[in-house]
Amino acid sequence: RGLFVFALFALVLTGCSGHESLNVLDPSGSAGEKQLDLIKLSFLIMLGVFAVVITIYIYVLIRFRKRKGVDVMPKQTHGNTKLEIIWTVIPIILLGILAVPTVTTTFDLTKIAQDEEVVNVKVTGYQYWWEFEYPELGIKTAQELHIPVGKKINFEIHGKDVLHSFWIPALGGKVDVIPGRVTNVILDANKPGDYQGKCAELCGAGHALMDFKVKAHSAEDFDKWVTQMQAPPAELTTDSEKRGEEVFQQNCLGCHAGINQSVPGPDLSKFGTRDTIAGMLKNNPENLKKWLHDPQAIKAGANMPKIDYLEEKDLDALVDYLESRK
Ligand code: CUA
Repeated sequence: RGLFVFALFALVLTGCSGHESLNVLDPSGSAGEKQLDLIKLSFLIMLGVFAVVITIYIYVLIRFRKRKGVDVMPKQTHGNTKLEIIWTVIPIILLGILAVPTVTTTFDLTKIAQDEEVVNVKVTGYQYWWEFEYPELGIKTAQELHIPVGKKINFEIHGKDVLHSFWIPALGGKVDVIPGRVTNVILDANKPGDYQGKCAELCGAGHALMDFKVKAHSAEDFDKWVTQMQAPPAELTTDSEKRGEEVFQQNCLGCHAGINQSVPGPDLSKFGTRDTIAGMLKNNPENLKKWLHDPQAIKAGANMPKIDYLEEKDLDALVDYLESRK
């Protein structure tokens, strides 16, 4: 029975997705584990309160029920200082038991030991995508966060437009993304794998699709990824790619070069290495065309304009060029 209740609770908590990488009850990092401890503690307290209240309630229902043949009004009482003190003090104690570890864990999640090696990542939330910058490594990317397993990742979280919330259910969070303010969280992954990241604050039409991927690598694979990202852009090999570069420069560079800060778009210099387009479609030429043709049909509210005015040949060239950016 208890197991059933817990399973039901688990289902509600995971949003019924059945998606393993979204499961807060199966954390893959130390921050997630700490948060799970808090969830368990508050669940146990709630279960205890529920059990006591229901037991008293049922006892009173039975003990003081109306019996056959008895038709007198029972003695009425008002106020009982002793009882009132008891039911005020008990919740205060319970809240204290919950508050102390909650507050200490909250502060722990932004603390690093002085000599500990961390990877710094600057996260910026935009309607409706995420930018990830590794200041020490000179890497800027979007929608896909790569991290090494076993190392603390120090996230410095910035907001540019409206409130968002940075959340990687399997690793920990959520942390508010607040324009004009920097928030922090330190997370880590203890095993390689793909995890799902989400925006956890209603931020507009595209909120539900403001997802990102987290790829946790072994130290070796992470270094490979860093080397690949730091390498100069791949040479243009075909005529189509060369034409594609021209089309890109004429149509896309305004937003996708990080020059125009008022209309920022994701950095696409290594677009071909990404698994997904806009964090949701599998990255292949067919889907890229679909996305270019009508981004709003795929992600409501996206700022990306429709690129439906190009000649078919130029569109193909643009797709070739983008997919070759590795
Ligand atoms: Cu960003 Cu919801």
